[in-house]
Amino acid sequence: MSTTPVAIIGAGPAGLLLSQILYTHGVDNIVIEAQSRAEVESTVRAGILEQGTVKFLRKYGVAKRLDRVAEIDDFINYSIAGELVRVNLKEITGNSLAVYPQHEVLIDLIAQRLKDGGEIWFSTTVKEIKDHKTDHPTVVYTKADGTRGELTADYVVGADGSKSVARKLITADGGKRLKYEYPYAWLGIMVNAPQTDPPLIYATHPDGYALVSTRTASVQRYYVQCDPDDTIEDWPDERIWEAMHTRVDSDEVTVSDGEITSKTVLRFRSTVTDKLQSGRLFIAGDAAHTVPPTGAKGLNLAVADIAVLGPALARAIKKGDTELLDRYTEEVIPRIWQTQHFSYWMSSMLHSVDTGDQTADDFQTERRLAELRGVLGNPDGRKFQATQYVGLDMPDYEV
Ligand code: PHB
Repeated sequence: MSTTPVAIIGAGPAGLLLSQILYTHGVDNIVIEAQSRAEVESTVRAGILEQGTVKFLRKYGVAKRLDRVAEIDDFINYSIAGELVRVNLKEITGNSLAVYPQHEVLIDLIAQRLKDGGEIWFSTTVKEIKDHKTDHPTVVYTKADGTRGELTADYVVGADGSKSVARKLITADGGKRLKYEYPYAWLGIMVNAPQTDPPLIYATHPDGYALVSTRTASVQRYYVQCDPDDTIEDWPDERIWEAMHTRVDSDEVTVSDGEITSKTVLRFRSTVTDKLQSGRLFIAGDAAHTVPPTGAKGLNLAVADIAVLGPALARAIKKGDTELLDRYTEEVIPRIWQTQHFSYWMSSMLHSVDTGDQTADDFQTERRLAELRGVLGNPDGRKFQATQYVGLDMPDYEV
């Protein structure tokens, strides 16, 4: 049996960043993670960081490598049925985006936590959370070798992803999990190829969506819209390249292709749990909400939760002041819905839907292309789109 002020379940962006914030404010904590360090550091996720996220990582001393190597992108580009539309984010919002994959953020956070003597228990599975309505909530865990233990804390945070164990206690205590399943999915590929010019293009076409994104000068990340029930066997390389070129290429752009080194199907799902606390248990990040990948908001939204929860827990533990902690749900829910709406809206403008009724589907195709052209063709529409895409300011609380 061990004790710590804050037990954090999950070494993803939310859990590790929380650990770093608490450490900075002198609050000890232990992070428990089901996967091994190697697995955490190699799982492929999205690759775009909002300016607010970058500033926040800098504030907590974990952006040194990012500042050295991340590519800064001032533009979001659209290809609308073969017409390239470039939106200058920097000019419209004063902000840019950093191209820096999520697993690189995790590598940096893990290195910093371990360097500072932080405890991260990898390959350790949480079986149960007990007594979360008392002042000694306890996490019951099993290590890779089968040994079982208990970690008692002042507070427990479930940053344990979309299948969260912690969330179950919150929904059992009256929290509602609102959900939406989308009628489309993405096939994501890694490609050994030089960058496409421009390197970030959201493309739509009557056939559906495609996204050009990048990882490095020689490794590209692309996606094509597929059916949620498709498997990678449905997508031989030739079919992928035909779809990418049909949906993205124009007079000004040719997708740069090459050897495909991995393929995965990503299903789309939106969820929001409307209560993020029960007793001394809190949830954050994907445990609390999931967004579809369009717009790459998942990590950024997790950071926004932690920008409130971190200082709130530090204030509670250091100063006995629980005012912000008691307001955590109310404080973060409006931004979660704003972001949820933005990801849904971008997805709906860019993807085609096949209902089997050709006339109705053609109607929807023309309507959504008109919506996209309308938004991007109007200065106020562009500004709304660019502001949301670049991201709202992060909450900024001192301890
Ligand atoms: C990615 O690079 O994986 C990515 C980029 C932009 C998105 C989604 C994913 O909107």
